[in-house]
Amino acid sequence: MSKLIIEGCPRLSGSVSANGAKNSVLPILAATLINAGENVIHNCPDLRDVDSAVNILRHLGCKVRREGKTIIVNSSNITRYDIPDNLMREMRSSVIFLGPVLARCGKSSMSFPGGCELGPRPIDLHIDAVKKLGVNVTESGGILECTAGKMTGKDIILPFPSVGATENIILLATACHGRTRIRNAAQEPEIDDLIAFVNKAGGMAARRGSEIEIIGTQTREHTEHTIMPDRIETATYLCMGAAVGGDVEVRNTYPQYVETITEALTQAGAEISVRKDIIRIKRDKPLGSIKPVRTMPYPGFPTDAQAPLMAAMLKARGSSIFLETIFENRYRHVSELMRMGADIKVAGRVAVVEGVTRLFGTKVRATDLRGGAAMCIAAMTAMGKTEIDDIHHIDRGYEKIENVINALGGRALRE
Ligand code: EPZ
Repeated sequence: MSKLIIEGCPRLSGSVSANGAKNSVLPILAATLINAGENVIHNCPDLRDVDSAVNILRHLGCKVRREGKTIIVNSSNITRYDIPDNLMREMRSSVIFLGPVLARCGKSSMSFPGGCELGPRPIDLHIDAVKKLGVNVTESGGILECTAGKMTGKDIILPFPSVGATENIILLATACHGRTRIRNAAQEPEIDDLIAFVNKAGGMAARRGSEIEIIGTQTREHTEHTIMPDRIETATYLCMGAAVGGDVEVRNTYPQYVETITEALTQAGAEISVRKDIIRIKRDKPLGSIKPVRTMPYPGFPTDAQAPLMAAMLKARGSSIFLETIFENRYRHVSELMRMGADIKVAGRVAVVEGVTRLFGTKVRATDLRGGAAMCIAAMTAMGKTEIDDIHHIDRGYEKIENVINALGGRALRE
């Protein structure tokens, strides 16, 4: 298994570009199933999770080819509605195929999804919603068998604004008769990217705040779409700049989507400037502490940026408090950071970081996708070399993260 060797560095200076958003390209690739024709998707990142989604599409009968950052999916001929366990287990977000497979085939069969260990990853909200829309769901031996009856649009109130459940309802509702209205829908920007794709494919979906309305329609044959920039990748690179210090620029991004992160980094003493689709972070004096960070559904502070921001605060003066309200077990990176000399105390969903004067390079491992990014950030600010194992987690959501670190003046090597 490959690993990353990262050396601590005194300061960063450079400019990197955000790639297409992982959490947008995955549901949109699944959504190509609702459109029996050619779907041209631009600005697709080169990630393990994208490969997993392509494998599932090919298994179902799609013809998929990649031309650089463009993926062309011809979903004219779907030959199956089952997704085998080995493909489901490759990533948590494979459950996003439930809605589009049902919409296209009227049936679906899949095992419960796998993914990174963030605590139990139930799909009860997905199942309750598809049942309401007229789908019969049975579960035996970990396999979910779904059969659509006459699917009619309904009002669905989500008890929690689940991103995945919102996406599955949108995609299934395109095949329901009449209107479906999702209340307390997730408001993450990636959902709006999916809505834009659905409308280009001939669907009719619109958001009004936390409410999304979908009218079941026929879809059209050819669709073309460009994936929005990755706001969590952007946040990660800004946290690198804050942690190490220096002058870092992130291009091709949406500054308005990372305002909760830039606000926290500004509180800590970094200097943030925005020009069109570019965010610049400069930090020369030591970081100070920040107000307590409570992860929340969008537009609150994103849970995916909790670990990268925590890594940026490890050597900040004073204490920084984190409250993880979205996932039950999203502090797995803490024990690995403590091996480097970080001073972090965790009690349930609360983590308190006491700034230390130095961190020490050592052997650590990536515990999950964003925890792995946190290890990279900590390694860039540590004395000596850090060896990070299990970097397949990192490759699920970052395109060759070592290239970004080196482009910013850091020292990273993949072995
Ligand atoms: C999406 O996951 C993202 N993944 C996650 O990003 C992100 O952390 C999460 O949304 C929250 O923003 C993709 O978009 C591919 P949820 P998802 O359904 O859809 C509970 C990353 O690092 N829940 O909003 O799985 C669930 O257990 C990944 O890029 C239920 O209880 O998130 C969790 O505690 C990690 N029942 C919370 O809701 C359900 O049926 C949020 O889940 C569904 C979810």
